[in-house]
Amino acid sequence: MSESPTRLVTAVILVAAGSGQRLGYGMPKAAVPLGGEPILMHALRGIVASGAATQVCVALPPGDEPLRRLCDEFREELADGGPLLSVVDGGSTRADSVRAGIAALMDGIEAVLVHDAARALTPESVFHRVSEALAAGAAAVIPAVAVVDTVKTVAPTTGTDASFAPEILTGTAPREELRAVQTPQGFHLETLLKAHEAAQGLAPNESAAVTDDAMLVEMLGTPVHVVRGSTQSLKITTPLDLILAEGLLEGPLGARWVEG
Ligand code: C5P
Repeated sequence: MSESPTRLVTAVILVAAGSGQRLGYGMPKAAVPLGGEPILMHALRGIVASGAATQVCVALPPGDEPLRRLCDEFREELADGGPLLSVVDGGSTRADSVRAGIAALMDGIEAVLVHDAARALTPESVFHRVSEALAAGAAAVIPAVAVVDTVKTVAPTTGTDASFAPEILTGTAPREELRAVQTPQGFHLETLLKAHEAAQGLAPNESAAVTDDAMLVEMLGTPVHVVRGSTQSLKITTPLDLILAEGLLEGPLGARWVEG
């Protein structure tokens, strides 16, 4: 049996600086309670439990003292030998928050996993699959799951048709080729640096269309490898997602790690 390749010295950049308006709690999403603890705490515990990180850089909403205090408390809770926990002010876009995390990376980091705090219940196995692919030589790795819905493209309806329907169908994507992409997205450090350098040159409309880091790597022409994600790694965005996440925590196994 071949030995598994040595793990790279890895940092997780945890982006938690979003406003969370779609959840409607009137507070940053990372602070919203889930199973009695803020979403951010679940995300941090998951990262540490995976053992994937030597450093965790958390990007928080600038000036958010309660979330900063939460990170300070978590730092104290970490046993000796746990990852270094760094806190930075996030930016006005997700990509800006990632860049703030990159600026705080310690020397010696070889690979970075960029993770959304909103995916607070990502199983450890997903972190492992991404890290293992990076160690085996992939420069960019994303976790993904099959799409269950039929996905179509649409455009705004024009003319008189607009009176009865706002949009019209323009095409149907072949479902077997589609994947719903999750985080943590893993990159060799030099690949992530190149991708974010290139992103600085994008026009504002192009920047606004960038929703994850893998898109920036795609633009470089670098292959992005895909490993299996998990439906448990849902992105808590709407009130319905919060109900699902609560349900997972209270599920029959009573554990966060239900599905690999
Ligand atoms: O809003 P969106 O779905 O893109 O958010 C994905 C993740 O990026 C969330 O965890 C959110 O906290 C984070 N984010 C951020 N800084 C922003 C916007 C979003 O860290 N300016």
